[in-house]
Amino acid sequence: MTRIFLTGGAGFIGSAFLNQALTEGHEILVYDNLSFGQRRLANVADSRFVEGDILDEALLGATMRSFAPDVVVHLAAIHFIPYCNEHPFEASNINAMGTFRLLRAVRSVPSVSKVFFASTAAVYPAAAGPLSEEVPVGPTDIYGLSKFAGEEVCRAFQSDTGMPTVVGRFFNAFGPNETNPHLIPAIEEQLRAGTRVLQLGNTSTWRDFIHTSDIAAAVHALLRHDGRGCETFNVGSGHEHTGMDVVAAFSSALGERIEVTSDPARMRVSDRPHLLADIGKLTRVTGWRPTITLAEGIRTLVAAWQ
Ligand SMILES: NC(=O)c1ccc[n+]([C@@H]2O[C@H](COP(=O)([O-])OP(=O)(O)OC[C@H]3O[C@@H](n4cnc5c(N)ncnc54)[C@H](O)[C@@H]3O)[C@@H](O)[C@H]2O)c1
Repeated sequence: MTRIFLTGGAGFIGSAFLNQALTEGHEILVYDNLSFGQRRLANVADSRFVEGDILDEALLGATMRSFAPDVVVHLAAIHFIPYCNEHPFEASNINAMGTFRLLRAVRSVPSVSKVFFASTAAVYPAAAGPLSEEVPVGPTDIYGLSKFAGEEVCRAFQSDTGMPTVVGRFFNAFGPNETNPHLIPAIEEQLRAGTRVLQLGNTSTWRDFIHTSDIAAAVHALLRHDGRGCETFNVGSGHEHTGMDVVAAFSSALGERIEVTSDPARMRVSDRPHLLADIGKLTRVTGWRPTITLAEGIRTLVAAWQ
């Protein structure tokens, strides 16, 4: 049993990680300001939930010292790229400065022996083909830039303190309880409203979709991994699909024909054509493997509301 201090545990990926952690018998305290997350998603008693901001270093430090965690899993962030583009100062402040304040608070908590930081594939440059951790970073938007700054804060923290620190670069998460209006929840919303003619943005870009329960399992595997220093791992499926593949998976899950029309309002200003993970390092080091394909994950989503 591990005592885990979890930021962002009321969010999309955080709630999936939390549920797996509870099943494995860990003790968890969730710290989340509920700006994007929802209290109902964090399946813990009120005594294990603190509504707080990661910019509030005093509250972070006091909460951590009284809970005395073994590990800190830091998922809280501003994540939706169009929102980050519209609010660049807020996004970079929370993603970079929030990470800095969190790690400064960790220094005052002697029980902590490991930190996990959720970064993103958005730190990579636009490129076709699988991206390994060796590829030099080249973020193309404020979100990727702010997360890369968060990674650098982690590296500086690790080199100052010697504490093992893990950076997980998540690719495109999908699964239940998505909090931000990405492609899959946008499709679900329209299908559930009864239409079979979807209005979508760009459906030709290729993405590496990874189910949130596989991400959660990867984070648990990385927490168990006996690493030193500050190590970086891609967390993806290793497979690429277009937006039209996603639509086809919904069509097959429903057993109905679906048409797509283009909605200019949903087009992103900048949208890289490809994003694919090389997951060799993560699988080699931890033995973790993704278990849920895009088609299976979408069948489960559809089954939940049919
Ligand atoms: N969803 C994806 O496809 C994806 C891909 C790559 C990386 N990530 C990263 O994974 C992590 C989780 O993402 P998610 O999809 O679950 O997003 P999410 O928005 O559902 O979760 C983020 C959580 O952080 C909380 N939060 C935001 N700002 C906060 C602050 N200042 N103080 C305290 N809590 C705050 C929100 O309320 C929310 O519950 C993030 O770090 C994100 O950057 C997500």
